Amino acid sequence: MSVKIEDYYSRETFKKMKGFADDRETPFVVIDTNIIAQAYDELVGNFPFAKIYYAVKANPATEITELLRAKGSNFDIASIYELDKVLATGVEPTRISYGNTIKKAKDIRYFYEKGVRLFATDSEADLRNIAKAAPGSKIYVRILSEGSTTADWPLSRKFGCQPDMALDLLILARQLGLEPYGVSFHVGSQQRDIDVWDAVIAKVKVIFERLREEDGIVLKMINMGGGFPANYMTKTNSLEIYAQEIIRFLKEDFGDELPEIILEPGRSLIANAGILVSEVVLVARKSRTAVERWVYTDVGKFSGLIETMDEAIKFPIWTEKKGELEEVVIAGPTCDSADIMYENYKYGLPLNLASGDRLYWFSTGAYTTSYSAVEFNGFPPLKAYYIS
Ligand SMILES: Cc1ncc(COP(=O)(O)O)c(C=O)c1O
Repeated sequence: MSVKIEDYYSRETFKKMKGFADDRETPFVVIDTNIIAQAYDELVGNFPFAKIYYAVKANPATEITELLRAKGSNFDIASIYELDKVLATGVEPTRISYGNTIKKAKDIRYFYEKGVRLFATDSEADLRNIAKAAPGSKIYVRILSEGSTTADWPLSRKFGCQPDMALDLLILARQLGLEPYGVSFHVGSQQRDIDVWDAVIAKVKVIFERLREEDGIVLKMINMGGGFPANYMTKTNSLEIYAQEIIRFLKEDFGDELPEIILEPGRSLIANAGILVSEVVLVARKSRTAVERWVYTDVGKFSGLIETMDEAIKFPIWTEKKGELEEVVIAGPTCDSADIMYENYKYGLPLNLASGDRLYWFSTGAYTTSYSAVEFNGFPPLKAYYIS
């Protein structure tokens, strides 16, 4: 299947990004921060009542965090290192949530000392650590959600707990002198089935009601995580449709007086803003009669494309070469046979594709630079340029 530029970028934007890329050595990702600003505005426009906490793990570049700080975003942080980076851009600690449920007691203390007062949890051990290291803080408990089969990058098994346990934890939070503040979930990244939100919001409602009625605990917040779509090969509904449906689910369960709603977008804000530019190293066949060609390129699983694991994320790949398409296997440059990006999903690339030709991997602004290995096979981490 050939990839059409206009399905992903306006002509002018693509021209600008390609023009910037043309005389630079590959591989690298070029990120247009205008696209991020637009995506942020679109999200706010669709969820005007929500507070946005950008999931910094998607791309922690200061060019992005500074832009989003100026636009009024808050930040979902996964580690003390992200925290330092974001605080250094002038973000107030009151705009930060420690969203990782897996954390050391001393790291909780570090966040607390820096002024952060909002913490996620999903286990008793972590909750007790928070009570000691961050006394009096606001707690939200992450619950498990379904949807792992319809998310391209599922997150629902490792994090979260069953609703019954969430109830226990929120009650314990109060006993430990913390503020039981809300419930969170993440439906899985690049979640294609909007109905998954319906089921999990219904679970949240039960937790809110049970705690109010049986324990006099009034929760104030729902953190709906990420999961909103970026523009890859497999099409999704528009953000507008996601928002309309999710708001309908919220109102069905909570009425017009919604609790505080937090969103933690990563992929949907950043991915479309990036184009990863790579060069074909070799095109080869494995036998005289093999129909299939192997295209080896100078970027791979270890230099930013780890989300091609199990071919989960199917990035659109464009080349300037025109002509008859033939199925290819696409692999990276390292001496590791895991470094194959696509083998089962059949990408078609022109028959005349040759060493030195460039491949443009669209929608690669999120989870590429931050995932890139530091020195595997001696290759440096993926370079990134930010333009606007
Ligand atoms: C706690 C948390 N929030 C938000 C996100 C961002 O999700 P997405 O990239 O699907 O928007 C993640 C992704 O891993 C996450 O772990």
